[in-house]
Amino acid sequence: MGHIVVLGSLNVDLVANVSHLPRPGETVMAESLQTFPGGKGANQAAAAARLGGTVAIVGRVGTDAFGTLLLESLERDGVNVSGVARDEAAPTGTALILVDPNGENVITVAAGANASLGADEVRRALAALDPAGLLVLQLEIPPPMARAAIEGARRKHVRILLNAAPAGRLDPSLLAGLDILVVNEPETAALVGRPVDDTRSAEYAAVELHQRGVQLAVVTLGAAGSVFCLNGSAERVDPFTVTAVDSTAAGDAFVGALAVALSDGVAVPRALRLANAAGAVAASRAGAQSSLPHRDDLERLFGVKWP
Ligand code: RIB
Repeated sequence: MGHIVVLGSLNVDLVANVSHLPRPGETVMAESLQTFPGGKGANQAAAAARLGGTVAIVGRVGTDAFGTLLLESLERDGVNVSGVARDEAAPTGTALILVDPNGENVITVAAGANASLGADEVRRALAALDPAGLLVLQLEIPPPMARAAIEGARRKHVRILLNAAPAGRLDPSLLAGLDILVVNEPETAALVGRPVDDTRSAEYAAVELHQRGVQLAVVTLGAAGSVFCLNGSAERVDPFTVTAVDSTAAGDAFVGALAVALSDGVAVPRALRLANAAGAVAASRAGAQSSLPHRDDLERLFGVKWP
């Protein structure tokens, strides 16, 4: 199995549980406020490590207590954090998250040190990749750095998994030649330029993304599972049913599981089934990294034995 290198964001999540998500101009009293380790990059690294991957993360945090909290948490999960720089000029990234009783959320991210991720981090990530490795990227880092990492990994013939989240930050020219793309419905809609809000529209979009040059295009559908296009036609991957508590990091659990399974040589449909299971567990628990499953959780909760 090759090493997984995640180049991405690390955030502390400040999570308020609310009776309903506020409309513009509305004030809603929170029922609780909690602090969790988060950030799409860090979540995906932690998810992959918990599911058995050999994982390193490259990124930036501040010299503040939040930065220390994030690094210690990732180390406890077995993630190599030697590639994370401490930024003396910027605070650790922070996400403000509201969660309603159905587990739906709204998230806004103050990027902090993640916004200073630059060419040094790209170099460190590329240097950490072996030929059998996998580069995992999201878009909470400056998009030019994501582009530089993708181009560098292509030169090294290393596979790339891009989770194009948040929506609207991907230069569409990067789709051509991409190995693996994972996007949710709004992210897919931003790429194809039309609404993607059910399984059928997601299937069309997955085929279009594949035709635009993505080898494996995956659209996640939350409680409805996922669809993918690998060989020109779309296929559905059944969901696992859970009671949703907090969907934060469900997509990151999905990406981490997919990265490990594909690195292990698991066939795509099975790898996506495992990813659906990991995402479902995360949606059934509170918080970001606090919600990510280990392999034995998948077996205990769903009878799914890895791989
Ligand atoms: O994908 C979930 C993550 O998005 C949260 O942990 C938050 O930090 C934001 O980056």
